[in-house]
Amino acid sequence: MTKRIVVYRRLHDDQLAQLQRDFHVDVFEHLEDLDDPAFRAALREAHGLVGASRRITPELLDAAPRLEAIASVSVGVDHYPVDELTRRGILLCNTPDVLTETTADTAFLLIMSAARRAVELADFVTRGDWRASIGEAQFGSDVHGKTLGMVGMGRIGAAIARRGALGFGMHVRYSNASPKPALDEELGARRCTLDALLGEADFVCVTVPLSAQTERLIGAREFGLMRPSSIFVNVSRGRVVDEAALIEALEQGRIHAAGLDVFAQEPLPADSPLPHMANVVALPHIGSATHETRTAMAQRAVDNIHLALRGERPISLVNEQAWAERRA
Ligand code: DGY
Repeated sequence: MTKRIVVYRRLHDDQLAQLQRDFHVDVFEHLEDLDDPAFRAALREAHGLVGASRRITPELLDAAPRLEAIASVSVGVDHYPVDELTRRGILLCNTPDVLTETTADTAFLLIMSAARRAVELADFVTRGDWRASIGEAQFGSDVHGKTLGMVGMGRIGAAIARRGALGFGMHVRYSNASPKPALDEELGARRCTLDALLGEADFVCVTVPLSAQTERLIGAREFGLMRPSSIFVNVSRGRVVDEAALIEALEQGRIHAAGLDVFAQEPLPADSPLPHMANVVALPHIGSATHETRTAMAQRAVDNIHLALRGERPISLVNEQAWAERRA
């Protein structure tokens, strides 16, 4: 029997062809609604799912009784009910590693843009306001030599810290569940509590994945511990931060500026004040969005689903416990 895959994310033609060689593939590239009848019909027969950025609920899993594996085109898995998938023996795969360096580049783009006010000052030029040499009113803050506080020191956190320490001579502090002795050695990094980090860092950069433990990890109390000169950067997930508290901290000058790639609600609602604040650089969740990296992520998802549906262990399996009880 030829297994069936539902793809709800754009793949390159050659990646789709790789899947079509071995599977029946239903493609929903511009899926607007998860209740779309054609999508639901395909889901009923599907053994595999390939996609991203859609909330997968237990109800949706009920509608996919043959599902054996999901290959997400993302490293983050906060859109999936991981425990429920494990309980049902459905494998969940993601795309770590291939996006690490690109996401770290994005974090540094935000650090630099927020510190040097790049977006605000580019607008100043565009508006035709640059009529004399710029003065103190347009000065920014240095990045080199400052203290970089990493909230989370996983793969992406480490890649950002490496850029900071080795490229910009920054002092790295990090809060993380486990110590990272190799990074302490390589970068002179120092692990500390979150509170100590917030009080010490010039740049606070969030990279922890969203989970029940990290939801609203940074709120009014935490912004209160930061310095008035601090710059806050988030490339993780918007819900790790209490966004109302962030807005208040920026408005009241409790922190200096923010560089944000992620938001509590995406796309950002039209009435959000964040993109209109001069001290905020807001990007539309572009952490991994380069041609090279998105191609590599899609390829990893294709490889993962191929392996999973052939009964082989995928390259990046999120719910390891599901392997022994897998449906495949
Ligand atoms: C990821 O891979 O999780 C990125 O945030 C893109 O969604």
